[in-house]
Amino acid sequence: MTMTTAQAEIAELSEKINYYNEKYYQSHTSEITDYEFDMLLNRLIELEKQFPQFAQPDSPTNRVGGGITKNFATVTHKRPMLSLSNTYNEQDLRDFDERIKKALGNEEYEYICELKFDGVAMSLHYENQVLSTAVTRGDGEQGDDVTTNIKTIHTVPLRIHYEALPTSFEVRGEVIMPHDSFDKINDEIAKENEQRAKEGKKLLTFLANPRNATSGTVKMQDSAVVAKRNLMLYSYDFLSDNQVFASHEESLTALKKANFHISADYEKCKNIDEVIGFINRWETKRYDLPMDTDGIVVKINSYAQRELLGFTAKSPRWAIAYKYKAENAATILESVTFQVGRTGAVTPVANLKAVKLAGTTVKRATLHNANEISRLDLHAGDTVFVQKAGEIIPQVMSVDLAKRQQGALPIQFVTNCPECNTLLIRKEGEVAYLCPNEKGCPPQIKGKIEHFISRKAMDIDSLGEKTIEIFFKQGIIGNVADLYKITKEDILKFEGFKETSANNILAGIENSKQKPFKNVLFGLGIRFVGETVAEKLANFFKNIANLQQATIEELTTAPEIGEKIAQSLIEYFKDTDNLSLIESLKSAGLQFTAQDEEKPQLSNKLIGRTFLVSGVFANFERDAFKDVIEAHGGKVLSGVSGKLNYLVAGENAGSSKLEKAQKLGVQVISESQFLEMIQ
Ligand code: IVH
Repeated sequence: MTMTTAQAEIAELSEKINYYNEKYYQSHTSEITDYEFDMLLNRLIELEKQFPQFAQPDSPTNRVGGGITKNFATVTHKRPMLSLSNTYNEQDLRDFDERIKKALGNEEYEYICELKFDGVAMSLHYENQVLSTAVTRGDGEQGDDVTTNIKTIHTVPLRIHYEALPTSFEVRGEVIMPHDSFDKINDEIAKENEQRAKEGKKLLTFLANPRNATSGTVKMQDSAVVAKRNLMLYSYDFLSDNQVFASHEESLTALKKANFHISADYEKCKNIDEVIGFINRWETKRYDLPMDTDGIVVKINSYAQRELLGFTAKSPRWAIAYKYKAENAATILESVTFQVGRTGAVTPVANLKAVKLAGTTVKRATLHNANEISRLDLHAGDTVFVQKAGEIIPQVMSVDLAKRQQGALPIQFVTNCPECNTLLIRKEGEVAYLCPNEKGCPPQIKGKIEHFISRKAMDIDSLGEKTIEIFFKQGIIGNVADLYKITKEDILKFEGFKETSANNILAGIENSKQKPFKNVLFGLGIRFVGETVAEKLANFFKNIANLQQATIEELTTAPEIGEKIAQSLIEYFKDTDNLSLIESLKSAGLQFTAQDEEKPQLSNKLIGRTFLVSGVFANFERDAFKDVIEAHGGKVLSGVSGKLNYLVAGENAGSSKLEKAQKLGVQVISESQFLEMIQ
């Protein structure tokens, strides 16, 4: 096959497949069979692999994903991504309307009311009518470049064929995960967990809600997984250097014509009463939508009027978000149980008569602590109002006093540990009741082991909660050091454990011996020593002996270590059981000394010079390129600015970066010019 025929076939296949895709996703029709479609796509994937230089920017293979992003580059937004001011009541809306009226004098004005989709805000940049970058909101000033992942979303056009839009522009919108995709993923997790439970493996956690699931998915490294998650993007904002449209409605119509996905449920309102009507209509109707919404966005339609109204430091004066109150439901308190956590803290949980709330069935709600029980003045059998906080964990908000049964007794906090019957204590200044029987209280012991094997500590994922439970109950493990004494015979004694799962478990335990000191230190579960503190301590004290011998004064000289943490460390190392635990772990071969993670230094050739890399390179992956710059003493910046010395431009380098570099007089060099610099 010659280069010319390859190029022609790639172009032809791309166009064909894009056509079928469009038919399928826009008008839900297919003109060919799934099999024929797959054959075309596979042929294109194959050709693009052989001739990557001919891959079209809007190639349908983008939708399938496959591109891996190790680190998402930080990008400075061309225009900051502001947020909206929120309101929860009608009066605030009327005040907003009054401010608009005053600022616009006697001019007429119109509002556009839109649904407020509950997902992740995204900024899409099109250059030469081709999608160039997709950036998350981040802190509003800078976000992450997640282009590869966003390209898999079918409601994001990769190339525009519509002259009414300028060649370069920005579109903003909300990425969401529809309910059916969310449920499907959780169903798959449930299935996978059934298998894992059988094998004694650690269980996967379910996705908490569609918004969290969306933000996690958008930042996944493997775009092929993103492609399978059926995200959608609703576009709600058009921005460009020159004003192209006179109103928001005009721009929405144009975006729709250009194949952007626009919600059909927006309405133009002539006054604030109409706006309030729209809000009331959607209050419950929104639950029939196939995705989460958390309010309504009210925007001035005319761009000229928007300009007149302007912005505050944080948000535009021409728009406001009306947020619906979290849904409430009344139900009956059946009982209160008390749970003991890893640290011995006792948490009260309300067991409720099952009730439907914002689409799910609620049977339990957290009561946080003893103070919360007093605040609610909770009595047995009370009718309570539950609400989902941020629509995730249900909470008991209040009690319907009118419905209290005569003679109902107030709920008492337990005085003794529900697990080991030890008298509970309350430390000065703390709200939580604690079971002080740290070494003998089963959930505390198990909790410590579970914490030790968790991902951010020793990361032994071949062990799970259930296996720990079995091993603990059968007396095989009583503390974390016992993990390293487990033998294959021990495991095979239990029903359901086969040779492979036993080998798996042992390999996971063995591998954990290589985990760095900071992980071990975090895994010990010393009070107030979280992941970051453990890292700081490991870097500062270098090994366990130094840490063990440190006085309060020495401990508090370490960065970010205060009195409270220092005191907790002193107490931990005073305990002889803890010291012998550390000794056992040491003899098992765990890391108790910090390894300096110095990066190799190859030369000083680039010292004092700053670089930014953009595009695709022949010799390096983007991250490897950055390492090479640093290995030769150079510094890598995250964007084009006055501080930048060199922009290294590869194939398909971002044209806005090139333009900006030229404007600022930054030297643009090629990959080979760079290689010369370090030769
Ligand atoms: S307009 C200046 N319209 O709500 C901000 N936002 O704080 C212009 N959102 O970050 C945003 N649906 O992520 C707008 N129809 C809609 C929206 C919407 C959801 C999100 C967006 C923004 C947040 C507002």
